[in-house]
Amino acid sequence: MVEKHKLGLTKRHFPFVLRRKLYNFDKLQKTCLDIISNVDDDFSAQFNDAEKIIPDKEFFKDTNKYGNHFCYPNNGGKEEYLKETKKYDSDSKFQLNGVDGTNFVKSNQAIYGNYSVVAFQEISDEMVEYSKDLEYNEDSTPYQRQRGMISMEPPYYHPKYDERSYTKFTPFASPDVRDFLETFSEYGEQSCRSSLVKLNPKMYLSPHWDMGPEFASRFQIPIVATDGMEMGFRKNKNHPWKVYKFEEGYAYFVNTGYEHYARNDDETTRYQVRVCVIGQRLLWDYNEVEPNFEKTNWDD
Ligand SMILES: [Fe+2]
Repeated sequence: MVEKHKLGLTKRHFPFVLRRKLYNFDKLQKTCLDIISNVDDDFSAQFNDAEKIIPDKEFFKDTNKYGNHFCYPNNGGKEEYLKETKKYDSDSKFQLNGVDGTNFVKSNQAIYGNYSVVAFQEISDEMVEYSKDLEYNEDSTPYQRQRGMISMEPPYYHPKYDERSYTKFTPFASPDVRDFLETFSEYGEQSCRSSLVKLNPKMYLSPHWDMGPEFASRFQIPIVATDGMEMGFRKNKNHPWKVYKFEEGYAYFVNTGYEHYARNDDETTRYQVRVCVIGQRLLWDYNEVEPNFEKTNWDD
């Protein structure tokens, strides 16, 4: 069961970005590149219009009835698959819109569908059980959802929207991946909702907020990083965006309680491993990173 408490420090206690060198990066990168090479174009095309996690026990089977290497679990087709994956992940649900209720997603610029993921962790059986018959108010405001995260009671709480519920390894988490995630915090802090995320060339995740580090510390680990990729943060709309370019070989703590965006202006697809950690102790070993530059408009 997810424990009912907030972690010690809030977003205000942390810089936008911290990082730490990963001694086991090469191995992680190789593992992820292997997974990426297995996720072929046919497979990606099936998932093109919706971002989702893929808890697909069939994934590593050689062939399916369509003759390609990948298929929906149970081969029930897309509709069935989407129904089944309701309990799983969707990034947009984690992202809080503006505090005034405005939605920052500008339809042709921020295409969440291109931020697809191969999930390494899904909702634990225990939390799936807890969520049965749980009434949830889909129209809750960011503040209500935040309160739900603390109380863990309906109508503003649902495990689906709580990163901390995603602790069960999926079949995609190979022994190497598991080992990496289990030791990601040297202090035994639980990793959760980890996945391999992808941002296609010329795609954006437009500005939004997520739950801050008072609930889980969030990390991005570039697997394929090139120069045109950036992530920007700002305190509020009276401040410029502080823009960061991530390098391979490091794990980056990202303070996503603040408004932020991601952009891939390159010709190459960006791949990152995202890991959340229920804990803050590991951050003591991280160093602050200065932004590469500042700008006023997120799409400049
Ligand atoms: Fe985010």
